[in-house]
Amino acid sequence: MNLIDLKKIVTENLENTNEEFKRIFHGRGNYYSDFNYLTIDSIDKILFIVLFEELDEKIEKKFLEMINKVFNDSIHETLVLQRRYLNKSPCEVLSGNLSENNIAIENSIKYKISFTNKNIGFFPDMKVGHDYILKNAKNKNVLNLFSYTCAFSLSASKAGAKNIVNVDMSKGALTIGRENHHLNDFNTSNVHFMPYNILKSWNRIKKQGPYDIIVIDPPSFQKGSFAASKDYEKIIKKLDSLASEKCIVLSALNAPELDTNFIKNIFEKFSVNFKFEKRLDNLKTFPTNNEEKSLKNLIFVKN
Ligand SMILES: C[S@@+](CC[C@H](N)C(=O)[O-])C[C@H]1O[C@@H](n2cnc3c(N)ncnc32)[C@H](O)[C@@H]1O
Repeated sequence: MNLIDLKKIVTENLENTNEEFKRIFHGRGNYYSDFNYLTIDSIDKILFIVLFEELDEKIEKKFLEMINKVFNDSIHETLVLQRRYLNKSPCEVLSGNLSENNIAIENSIKYKISFTNKNIGFFPDMKVGHDYILKNAKNKNVLNLFSYTCAFSLSASKAGAKNIVNVDMSKGALTIGRENHHLNDFNTSNVHFMPYNILKSWNRIKKQGPYDIIVIDPPSFQKGSFAASKDYEKIIKKLDSLASEKCIVLSALNAPELDTNFIKNIFEKFSVNFKFEKRLDNLKTFPTNNEEKSLKNLIFVKN
């Protein structure tokens, strides 16, 4: 695949874009192995290019010329480039202006984002999980573990959940999470923000239970905080004490080295009351050459 092929794909995918977030090009899943260092996102009026590897100077020049052309023909007003391979992943505005407050929109829900952080504050491949919560959270008591900026909580709020508990050890992420609720005019009187280390706070988490829906979306590895390979089972061991009678668990994992059986085996071993129901299909806009290495969203139901 060469630059001309890439331009064709990008141009096609840019058609019919609107303010909703859309991944325009996803090279990270190795489906387009010649461009596995590249992602391109349409975020409201921003076209966001991320390079995960440093390119040869001449190749980068040609690549950016092509991107500028497709950008000029698109609805976008600002072109931003992030160099993810550099320390702190700096962003440059290549064209247009970047305002101080930026948002991503998914299912008409607004998410505050920031181009000063490595992660902009929103994980777009998780739309699959958010869609599931939108469909299932009405009148439910929802526990959102590893909530980050509370994306699942926003979907649960929109769905009309009865009560929502967000837990994340990052106070900063929860602050943005609270702002995200206000940004969408969601009432927060039934939404709780708990800034705790989940592995050490089971009693506090239990107090708001039993939960009808439990979302588990941890990092695959975060130094000193969580390692899926050894800590995932610690969460599953606690499920019975947190779950209502017909509880649904959305169990997510984005570790290429750990497959669906890794999660299924933990449930079989440590939480026999939960039965595997299905794996949610990943978005077509995130193609991969190996589904097992990509994001896993597994649904387990108590019976
Ligand atoms: C992959 S992000 C979660 C994404 C989020 N669920 C979403 O939908 O956008 C991982 C989060 O886990 C949090 N985290 C990691 N270890 C933790 C721990 N032991 N207790 C609480 N939060 C933890 C981090 O602060 C980070 O916000």
